[in-house]
Amino acid sequence: MSNRDIKVSKTAQGTCLMRATSYYEQGPYYKSDDYIASLFLPLFLNVMLKYDFLRTILKKSLFKVPGIYEYVISRTKFIDEIVKNFDENIEQVLIFGAGFDSRTIRFKNELRNANVFELDASATQQAKLKIFMEKKIEIPANVTFVSLDFTKESILEKLEEAGFQKSRRCLFLLEGLTYYLNHEAIDSVFNLMSDYSEKNSLLIFDYAIGSAGKEEQFCGDSKTKKQYQALVKAGERPGFMVAGPIQDFLVNYKFDLIQELTSNQLANRYFNIEGFELADFRIVQAIKK
Ligand SMILES: C[S@@+](CC[C@H](N)C(=O)[O-])C[C@H]1O[C@@H](n2cnc3c(N)ncnc32)[C@H](O)[C@@H]1O
Repeated sequence: MSNRDIKVSKTAQGTCLMRATSYYEQGPYYKSDDYIASLFLPLFLNVMLKYDFLRTILKKSLFKVPGIYEYVISRTKFIDEIVKNFDENIEQVLIFGAGFDSRTIRFKNELRNANVFELDASATQQAKLKIFMEKKIEIPANVTFVSLDFTKESILEKLEEAGFQKSRRCLFLLEGLTYYLNHEAIDSVFNLMSDYSEKNSLLIFDYAIGSAGKEEQFCGDSKTKKQYQALVKAGERPGFMVAGPIQDFLVNYKFDLIQELTSNQLANRYFNIEGFELADFRIVQAIKK
């Protein structure tokens, strides 16, 4: 039994807390629409988040890495825009490392004709399902939960058991995931998407800039080293990073780049500012050849 079978992912809880916080914000740049995220939080946090003053204190004490809160808000908005405009010809949606992603609920109308699979480690997925049950949140009938460890199990076997069909047009979402996987797991996930999806399938993921073996780069300069140490402590050591052009990586898996946004471009687009003071993350939209 691995750590992931027992412990709920701290990073999934962290991004969920950021989305819930953002939902309570008043200003247009900081506010986003994840009304489900707060349901995953204990009552006292919801009370704190409702009041500007308390929310500010909470943000200062919890979101210490400069720019990380803004990055997560931008990433949520970017992916929400794509799901909102869901292409009806897509038959299957696969959300890898879904954590407390609530898109299957928030966009149930848009996704109603597709088969949706949420993939995550068992402890995190069980925690999510428990809260859905307690809060009486109805899970749409077209959503299937697949629990597995990408580093240890056959993704295809697990997916086929759950009803996944090969050679269909798919939407693949990997939000906040790639940098927690080692290179072998990345290769398994990208090979699966490449080998078993139809032409024009869509892929959205984000990644960290850096070179293999230099994981501390994930957190940028010395100011953000603490984040790296916290992740290692939580058993979610950063792994995969890309140093060169993303096209060189995508070509191995038969995907073409549609667009790539740097942290700076995200800052411009969603916050109307010059850039986040943050180690470099990029978000990518690609299409299967
Ligand atoms: C940073 S969280 C992102 C969660 C969600 N996508 C979001 O943006 O809020 C990373 C997620 O990947 C999952 N994950 C990381 N490594 C994994 C592995 N080897 N197998 C399965 N899931 C994994 C974690 O359980 C966690 O839910």
